[in-house]
Amino acid sequence: LSALRRRLSDHLRVVPDFPSAGILFQDLCGVLAVPSLVHDIAEAMVAGFRHEFDRVVAVEARGFVLGTAVAQIAGRPLVLARKKGKLPGPVHSVEYGLEYGTAVLEMQQEALRAGERALVVDDVLATGGTLEATAELIRHDGADVTGHAVVLDIGALEGVRRLAPDRVLSILTV
Ligand code: PRP
Ligand code: MG
Repeated sequence: LSALRRRLSDHLRVVPDFPSAGILFQDLCGVLAVPSLVHDIAEAMVAGFRHEFDRVVAVEARGFVLGTAVAQIAGRPLVLARKKGKLPGPVHSVEYGLEYGTAVLEMQQEALRAGERALVVDDVLATGGTLEATAELIRHDGADVTGHAVVLDIGALEGVRRLAPDRVLSILTV
């Protein structure tokens, strides 16, 4: 993974005070601009979970990009976890905390069956609230969370602790 980490670091851009003062924004646009890098990240995610999942759950919005690549490479169906009001029902909803206020994620009720194993894909793990809510959606109908795959883990925020005992794979911890 170390060569992949280096390529990822080379294409990452850290933007101070975006979108608001005091936030150190991890801009992945330069990463997404390199097809072979996106491919290799998605392949590392699939290999990290040894293909042992039935579906890929991608989290709106930035998780859609990598989630699609992972689903294509793994040859597994893609399921979308979307923000409130975007999916026609019936849906499951979970409210989760943001830095200021709350948000709601939704998934269609028939998207996963009991016993199916889902790999969750997103771009960044920060506080872990988003992935924790996604895991709750997946477990709602008795499906299992194989784990969470992210490009970046903001280590200082300790989001991994909120996801335990789920397995978390991050390509790079910053
Ligand atoms: C960002 C990022 C992750 C989430 C991580 O999404 O893409 O999904 O925050 O934060 P957390 O671990 O503290 O929950 P955001 O909802 O800001 O916007 P997006 O729709 O652009 O993905
Ligand atoms: Mg997001």
